[in-house]
Amino acid sequence: MSRIFSGVQPTGNLHLGNYLGAIRNWVGLQENFECIFCIVDLHAITLPQDPEELRAHTREVTAVYIAAGIDPEKCIIFNQSMVPEHSELTWMLSCITPLGWLNRMTQFKAKAGKHRENAGLGLYAYPVLMAADILLYRATHVPVGDDQKQHLELARDIAGAFNQKYGVDYFPLPEPQILGAATRVMSLRDGSHKMSKSDDSDYSRLNMTDDADAIALKIRKARTDADPLPETPDGLANRAEAANLVEIYAALAETSVEEVCHKFAGKMFSEFKSELSDLAVARLGPIAREIGELKADPGYVDGILRSGTKRAGAIAKRHLHEIQDIVGLLRP
Ligand code: TYM
Repeated sequence: MSRIFSGVQPTGNLHLGNYLGAIRNWVGLQENFECIFCIVDLHAITLPQDPEELRAHTREVTAVYIAAGIDPEKCIIFNQSMVPEHSELTWMLSCITPLGWLNRMTQFKAKAGKHRENAGLGLYAYPVLMAADILLYRATHVPVGDDQKQHLELARDIAGAFNQKYGVDYFPLPEPQILGAATRVMSLRDGSHKMSKSDDSDYSRLNMTDDADAIALKIRKARTDADPLPETPDGLANRAEAANLVEIYAALAETSVEEVCHKFAGKMFSEFKSELSDLAVARLGPIAREIGELKADPGYVDGILRSGTKRAGAIAKRHLHEIQDIVGLLRP
């Protein structure tokens, strides 16, 4: 049986990259798969968070899921910390994960920066928690953006190591699903950096809560080059900012980069940006409005999370018992 698991950290400023790289793709998958979508608050605290803001962001990510079209009846939506089995499985998997595997993780190196000695153990162990999130539900598919590829490979390695150590075929090796035309959305100001929640420049990203004026302004200010749009994607080579805008258009229009090049070949970016802006407002505007409405109704959002916690918790508990039995932890 196929089961999907994915999640987003409640660290604020959910942006177009989170939407096009992940959440938008989940909406299509919920029709055909059993889906579990998590707000990974235990991941968020691997870096310092203000408690009030963390709570608000947890509700906000939930609101984004729902506003983007995730159906809380069909899918399980919950926040990670409310299902304690995530932490318990993390410990068991930590005991079979070689340090050498974690030392290869590029995201740790980037986030810890120069002060690696002062980075928390949680930040270092983060990929094991992510593996536990997925394996706890014995998920088979994980729809994410391109930047999570390495973490998913580690989750597969850990699943394989567990199966081999205990001579079982318990965990499926989870498959990444990196879908759509914009799997790695770049900053609107700098095509060499991915669009990120933590970028200080407000013009670098489209936030999911931006209104039409903000969207239009940011797209107008987006960096491009002086050449027109090419006839084929080959003409976007070494033009990171131009390629990024074309990919964003293709993803929002649910078409291919080839099609977009074909449609706008020879046009200048000033004209293309105005079309992109109209498309982005049409697609994101209604979502931003619904996020606003949901944020005004925290009781409703909390109810969704409570119900998701119950459903996720039931699966998690059953699986954790099975895992305890495999590992030899006595359940007297
Ligand atoms: P997070 O919160 O950084 O990002 C959430 C999702 O958004 C995708 N994404 C992007 N996609 C395209 N372009 C971008 N610029 C961009 N920025 C972010 C991410 O790939 C991700 O799919 N470790 C994960 C959260 C996590 C998780 C999991 C995911 C924890 N446990 C289990 C899947 C399964 C993270 O920090 O995502």
